[in-house]
Amino acid sequence: TATSTTAHQMALPPLLKPTRQTTQQVAYTVTAQRGKMAFYQGQKTNTLGYNGNYLGPVLQVNRGQTLKIKTQNHLTTTTSFHWHGLVLPGVDDGGPNQTVAAGQTKTVQFKIKQPAATLWFHPHAMGSTAKQVYQGLAGLIYVRDAASQKRHLPQTYGVNDFPVIIQDRQFTADHQLDYEQAYQADGTTGSTLLVNGTVNPYLNVTTKLVRLRLVNGSNARNYRLTLSNGQAMQQIATDGGLLPHPVAVKTVRLSPGERAEVVIDTARFKTGQSVTLQNGHQQVLALRTAKHLKTDGRLPATLTTLPKVSTANAQHQSLTFSGMGHMVAINHQTYQRNRINLTAQVKRPQVWTIRNTSGMMGGMIHPFHLHGVQFRILSINGATPPANQRGWKDTVALPPDGEVKIAFTFKDKGIYMYHCHNLEHEENGMMGQIKVS
Ligand code: C2O
Ligand code: CU
Repeated sequence: TATSTTAHQMALPPLLKPTRQTTQQVAYTVTAQRGKMAFYQGQKTNTLGYNGNYLGPVLQVNRGQTLKIKTQNHLTTTTSFHWHGLVLPGVDDGGPNQTVAAGQTKTVQFKIKQPAATLWFHPHAMGSTAKQVYQGLAGLIYVRDAASQKRHLPQTYGVNDFPVIIQDRQFTADHQLDYEQAYQADGTTGSTLLVNGTVNPYLNVTTKLVRLRLVNGSNARNYRLTLSNGQAMQQIATDGGLLPHPVAVKTVRLSPGERAEVVIDTARFKTGQSVTLQNGHQQVLALRTAKHLKTDGRLPATLTTLPKVSTANAQHQSLTFSGMGHMVAINHQTYQRNRINLTAQVKRPQVWTIRNTSGMMGGMIHPFHLHGVQFRILSINGATPPANQRGWKDTVALPPDGEVKIAFTFKDKGIYMYHCHNLEHEENGMMGQIKVS
């Protein structure tokens, strides 16, 4: 199989130029297209990408602005453009009922009414989601807001603030991404780790504080990220925005779809030491520090204030994720396009109890994801969540034989998906629809 020992500088996704920008509105064009990438020197891999060969650019939008996106499908198959983590009306979220056929375009627009966060977008057409993501379709959306901009946080893109999209892929002997060959019913994984599409990546660090926006863009792999020197990282954000305070963590766990932002204090590295971000013993990203690091002060002790979770007069729902492989289900049902599985009232607090009864297979995690909202975790296996999980979330790992309780409120009406973000489980029907009216 394909191997590489050559280290490559980590690719930096381009910041997408708006086609139009005012204080009120920002407009972008996003095109799903076929491409070719040289993951390995002198070898071309057939890929998919947004506005490029593999992965996509970063769309930036300010809270309060209207985001208008013209989506174009230049593929030969149907796709959709799902805005993972955005709080928006169901009809705009690009789920499996809002596909864009080959050669077609579609424009969506909605107002951004959520705090600064690292969000992402990817295809969501039933039957091709997992394959299209595997071949490279995924991009980032950065929501920005005045409050976070004023905080003394590393926020210069590509200088002290970097996106880190982590994926695992199985390359064939001729360096191709053959989804059918790599396919596994309980989640397609691969032995090669990529960061932003770079094999064996390193990052040149020039500042004492480095912010990494970690995104698990893998189909199915769960990560336990640590620094090779044992140093703690300061986690500053979860999926949907900043935490109230930085939380020192030695391990960051990310199930597929989850994000975490961490700040690393590289001044604490020993001189000449190359520290790596690693998953177990596998290298994810090498951090190469410059001789003289620029000082950019200290992290603020307070990052944001989160609203109190409101559960008064809440509507309670219970979901059970069960089975494995092709037999996965939620509440014993699999996804059907014309079936509404749950209903909810808009603007009424929701409390959901979500169970994972798939305890076998060495403890299978189902990453639970809900569209159109950001939620808060009330408890994990009955206990208060750890400090670094008390922020806004849109995806949460359901522990094997465990239970997670979440609270949130739908701000908009519409039909929304909830599903396992292990993309093969999702394709096997581990998805449901809730109608909010
Ligand atoms: Cu990131 Cu319904 O997905
Ligand atoms: Cu699952």
